[in-house]
Amino acid sequence: MDDNRPVGIFDSGVGGLTIFSEITKLSPRESIIYFADQNNIPYSGKSERDLEKITSNIVRFLIKNKIKLIVIACNTATVYTIDYLRSKFKVPIIGVVPVVKTAARFTKSGRIGILSTAATSKSKYQKDLIKKFANGLIVNNIGTDELVSFIETGDLKSAVLNKKLRNILKEFQGIDVLALGCSHYPFLRDEIQKILGLEVLILDSGPAVARQVKRVLESNKMLSNKKSKTRFFTTGNPADFKRIVEKLINAKLDPVRYEFI
Ligand code: DGL
Repeated sequence: MDDNRPVGIFDSGVGGLTIFSEITKLSPRESIIYFADQNNIPYSGKSERDLEKITSNIVRFLIKNKIKLIVIACNTATVYTIDYLRSKFKVPIIGVVPVVKTAARFTKSGRIGILSTAATSKSKYQKDLIKKFANGLIVNNIGTDELVSFIETGDLKSAVLNKKLRNILKEFQGIDVLALGCSHYPFLRDEIQKILGLEVLILDSGPAVARQVKRVLESNKMLSNKKSKTRFFTTGNPADFKRIVEKLINAKLDPVRYEFI
């Protein structure tokens, strides 16, 4: 049976587009509703209770728009709210977390890095992931909230950003694998690679999430056979969003402003 309803993807901003791109690459026939909650960015620093309220509102909005599956394209929202959202809503929900298991598989030096938001790095969820999949390894679990605002304004390589990055990446001396634990960070992959050097393998979670989306759609017999228009919503400024997204992923779009009342 075909199911042509869209997949709903959300993030606090443009970071989830790194996941969006992987999903559209692997499942080009799926229609998508992308929701950027830019009025509430950053999610890192918000209380668990606030994040539960915020993400519940988004899930309700997506359900009203008849999505068949939801992707939380934000590590911070996933580690703090996915269990809550799954207990509250019946729709299938897929989250994104750093690929600690893969990083542990690839390391030869026995030292890996994870670069997340501050909230994700100190979450119990992330600590449990490390215990479970990187036991016996040295893990530099570093959180920062200094990078997201650059990406939100489309700045992927200014001198100011480069200086910040160099400072943050000092924490990763000796690693040979780095897992990007924030969906915004793959936009900085080239800059990070230049600073860390080619001998460090940089992994993000996008491809794994896209494979999981496809698996879940397949096993629930929810694959689409016909793509309709992808729709973009932001709780922020749609003109700014349009400009930045078109720069970041080279797409043409017509975002709609959505306000929670
Ligand atoms: N994109 C979000 C993540 O993956 C972080 C941005 C924020 O703090 O809102 O964690």
